[in-house]
Amino acid sequence: MKIIMINTALLMAVILMVLPDPTWSDPRSKTVKLICGEQSEHNATLYVPNFVATMENISAQIRNSGFGLSVTGPGNIDTNYGLAQCYGDLSPLDCVLCYAEARTVLPQCFPANGGRIFLDGCFMRAENYSFFHEYSGPNDVAVCGNETRTGPAFRESVRRALNDAVLTAPEKNGYGRAEVAVSGDGNGSAYVLADCWRTLNASACRSCLKKASSSVMKCLPLSNGRALNAGCFLRYSNTNFLNPIPQNRNSKERIIVIVMACVSAAAVLIIGAVIGVYTWKQRIIQRKRKGSDDTKKYAKTLNDSSLNFKYSTLEKATASFDEANKLGRGGFGTVYKGVLPDGREIAVKRLFFNNKHRASDFYNEVKIISSVEHKNLVRLLGCSCSGPESLLVYEFLPNTSLDRFIFDSSKGKGLNWEKRFEIIIGTAEGLVYLHENGNARIIHRDIKASNILLDSRLRAKIADFGLARSFQEDKSHISTAIAGTLGYMAPEYLAHGQLTEKADVYSFGVLLLEIVTGRQNNRSNTSVYAESLVTITWKRFQQRTVEEIFDSNLVTSHNYNYNIETRNDILRVVHVGLLCTQEIASLRPSMSKALEMLVKKDEDLPAPTSPPFVDDNTMELNGTNEHPSPPLDYGNSDSAASMSQSIFFPR
Ligand SMILES: *[C@@H]1O[C@H](CO)[C@@H](O)[C@H](O)[C@H]1NC(C)=O
Ligand SMILES: *[C@@H]1O[C@H](CO)[C@@H](O)[C@H](O)[C@H]1NC(C)=O
Ligand SMILES: *[C@@H]1O[C@H](CO)[C@@H](O)[C@H](O)[C@H]1NC(C)=O
Ligand SMILES: *[C@@H]1O[C@H](CO)[C@@H](O)[C@H](O)[C@H]1NC(C)=O
Ligand SMILES: *[C@@H]1O[C@H](CO)[C@@H](O)[C@H](O)[C@H]1NC(C)=O
Ligand SMILES: *[C@@H]1O[C@H](CO)[C@@H](O)[C@H](O)[C@H]1NC(C)=O
Repeated sequence: MKIIMINTALLMAVILMVLPDPTWSDPRSKTVKLICGEQSEHNATLYVPNFVATMENISAQIRNSGFGLSVTGPGNIDTNYGLAQCYGDLSPLDCVLCYAEARTVLPQCFPANGGRIFLDGCFMRAENYSFFHEYSGPNDVAVCGNETRTGPAFRESVRRALNDAVLTAPEKNGYGRAEVAVSGDGNGSAYVLADCWRTLNASACRSCLKKASSSVMKCLPLSNGRALNAGCFLRYSNTNFLNPIPQNRNSKERIIVIVMACVSAAAVLIIGAVIGVYTWKQRIIQRKRKGSDDTKKYAKTLNDSSLNFKYSTLEKATASFDEANKLGRGGFGTVYKGVLPDGREIAVKRLFFNNKHRASDFYNEVKIISSVEHKNLVRLLGCSCSGPESLLVYEFLPNTSLDRFIFDSSKGKGLNWEKRFEIIIGTAEGLVYLHENGNARIIHRDIKASNILLDSRLRAKIADFGLARSFQEDKSHISTAIAGTLGYMAPEYLAHGQLTEKADVYSFGVLLLEIVTGRQNNRSNTSVYAESLVTITWKRFQQRTVEEIFDSNLVTSHNYNYNIETRNDILRVVHVGLLCTQEIASLRPSMSKALEMLVKKDEDLPAPTSPPFVDDNTMELNGTNEHPSPPLDYGNSDSAASMSQSIFFPR
């Protein structure tokens, strides 16, 4: 519960930090390179909690100083050493955002016992030994951009800017920036950022930057180069990527910063919530479980159960998790294709974090989720709950996912309107079942095209509900790994972490519009709602020109007739999509109502009110105040527990 409280506090801190002092800036939270260690951790039961504690500890420091250092463990093989640092031009808020991304991605190195991640705005590394004074090593590498610049003026500028930054950085607490402009038209301008980890002394910093500088010079004449060294980060570019020194405030950009902050804070909150619910459930279980009798009884159940797969069986089925069988990688695990001895095909998710120490708990979750059966839901067949690693076993679906079809203009031809409508209805039925199934009401919270899998007859099956998270590899955003996906997240969920079935309805609405237009909802970093597919569709719907943005595969397809009837059907789906994406959650239909609207084609539909967008007059995200903001003090662990429970497993 401590963890969730820290994170909730962080959410509040982020929001408070933003409101009084908004400044345009860029957290540059794009990953440049993730470098994982080559040795496996020694004992996951000890490693994972130490690693998580290190990240938490650093998290607290990062907010105050843009830098964090932590050692967790008794100083033996399972001890975790961590360091994170934001580059010198990041504001405290951007630093929190960048770090949030770093700590979301770095765990992907598990089960390796260490790794480092270079982002464009910050750095993080964790190992089982003290690396704090390393400034050079075999992993040092330069990453070059591929846009060629031939101008000799640029080369000269880069050289001068690098020299400048490398000279000044060691004297300036390891941080140096340089901007050199040559010609008046800006053609020859070069911008350089140099940063040494704060654990290095000036001479080590200088050595690191010198090496980095000569390696990055080899990128010339390309327009961008980054050196990723053990003790420093160095980047040159022809565009000015440096954050300005804070001064002018522009209210338009303010809202963007707030929205960004909320997304990331929500992501952080949910990481916390997930960890929190684990801790909480474990505590409840410990409280219930008096004595070892129950444990033994439980172990017996587990062995008898058909849900329980032997670790060795799954290892064999996937050819020892062979790379060739890898289907994708997400926030909580890597998915492999497997074939059981009886020939059945399965998908095996290998979770990054081992649940062995709470196997009974984990098993109960698996039991609940696997009991949820519906023709439009991907089945969880079971798990290997007590083996050396935690594995989940799903049914295997050969046709991948909906996004591979609708966002691909040639594969999109394979899905005509009848097929798409069938997928829409199937998805809606699956969601109605999840929301209204008596035993375990489940909010999916990550409905998106890549989570709609297609079976051999291209029927929709919703993946990843309940326990698991990201089935397909998804590089899109900070929050994808753990929370929902930016672009599909309802405003009240994004801003306040407020999760009800209506958040799924919102995501479903976005999905409808994507299926009809063949376009992906805007996922640009800077603006969540402003120029989104939802806003565009809504405006066109008002102007009665929405037909112009129908997927051309639907309008000009050769294999069926696009007639007035099809057109009206498509328009109706757009209309329902807009009703589902209304900003005010209480106005959105329930899933069963939405399904009814789609099926009963002669029933009149109400006019949709506006989707979320930034109101130019007030510069506020409309209507997210419909629900009062959560109270600032979440210190009460009961309310935190029930909140995280509803996020994880609503009842
Ligand atoms: C890992 O450490 C725990 C706690 O010391 C111990 O109980 C467990 O047996 C160890 N596991 C392995 C595989 O060594
Ligand atoms: C973080 O770790 C350091 C030692 O590495 C310790 O002194 C400090 O108290 C920890 N801080 C928190 C908030 O746990
Ligand atoms: C780090 O872990 C590896 C593999 O688990 C082990 O061989 C090595 O000795 C560890 N390093 C330290 C300093 O304990
Ligand atoms: C600076 O740090 C390096 C590496 O840790 C060390 O070898 C060197 O002696 C230090 N120099 C000074 C002047 O402290
Ligand atoms: C660099 O190359 C990659 C792959 O070849 C390409 O996808 C990317 O668009 C290129 N970037 C630029 C800026 O040209
Ligand atoms: C920049 O310089 C290069 C080489 O000197 C030249 O080819 C190019 O046209 C220039 N671009 C602009 C915008 O002046």
